[in-house]
Amino acid sequence: MMNMDLYQKYAEYIKENIGDFIPAVGIVGGSGLGNLFDEADIKACIEYRDIPDFPQSTVEGHNGCFLFLEYKGRNIVFMQGRIHYYEGYTMQQVVTPVIVMKLLGIQILILTNASGGVNPTFEAGDIMMITDHISSFVPSALMGENDERLGERFPDMTEIYSKAFRKTLCRIAAENHIDLKKGVYVQASGPNYETPAEVRMFQVLGADAVGMSTACEAMVGKYLGLSVCGLSIVTNKACGLCDTPLSHTEVQKTAETTTAKVACLIKNFIETV
Ligand code: HPA
Repeated sequence: MMNMDLYQKYAEYIKENIGDFIPAVGIVGGSGLGNLFDEADIKACIEYRDIPDFPQSTVEGHNGCFLFLEYKGRNIVFMQGRIHYYEGYTMQQVVTPVIVMKLLGIQILILTNASGGVNPTFEAGDIMMITDHISSFVPSALMGENDERLGERFPDMTEIYSKAFRKTLCRIAAENHIDLKKGVYVQASGPNYETPAEVRMFQVLGADAVGMSTACEAMVGKYLGLSVCGLSIVTNKACGLCDTPLSHTEVQKTAETTTAKVACLIKNFIETV
């Protein structure tokens, strides 16, 4: 259930600690993508553990803080670490940071993640712009009583990932000679990686990359009226398409190697929108 009082309490705590800073853009940094901005741009840092009763990120490589930054005159809140369903949280808790960022003032939501390449043409290190997603394998965060102040009961999901943003990202990629793949992201619950049979199922369903996050956040972003875009770092070929067992360390390492390209895409994007 959407708990507006709680979201407002979190937002108030944060506002008390960031003065008159109003973020316009919210960014979620996925595994291995915590360092897209320079330290010098950071105005304030609020750790999740310091916000009373806030869900905590327990994953290696996910720090657990909101960074408040100014980049080329744009105010940004950057989530260094997200909350995952597989950590045992409810879906409502998982999407809480997105709702709180909306209450702080964001209009634009940029999501990043690490994923396994389900599309056999994808290689480790590829960057995929998310064009659409499949979230049917995890519960919806909107189940339970709806709070109309946040969004409508039955939100439309025709275009979660803004077409205009996708066009902009494609242009930026071309200008900077970055090979940007496009495709459908499917959210699995995790924390286990998929079996080869599950990956074949995801191929049949039309997915190009599989991960354990993001779709729920994007869906809620759309519900909240945010303009959303998503970048997925293909850190490995999905299970059954590669010879080696999957490991989180490999996922993190590969994601880190794409930091410069992802930062280039996101920074140019922020300057444009
Ligand atoms: N599956 C699910 N999530 C992932 C993967 C994967 O292969 N790689 C990185 N995150």
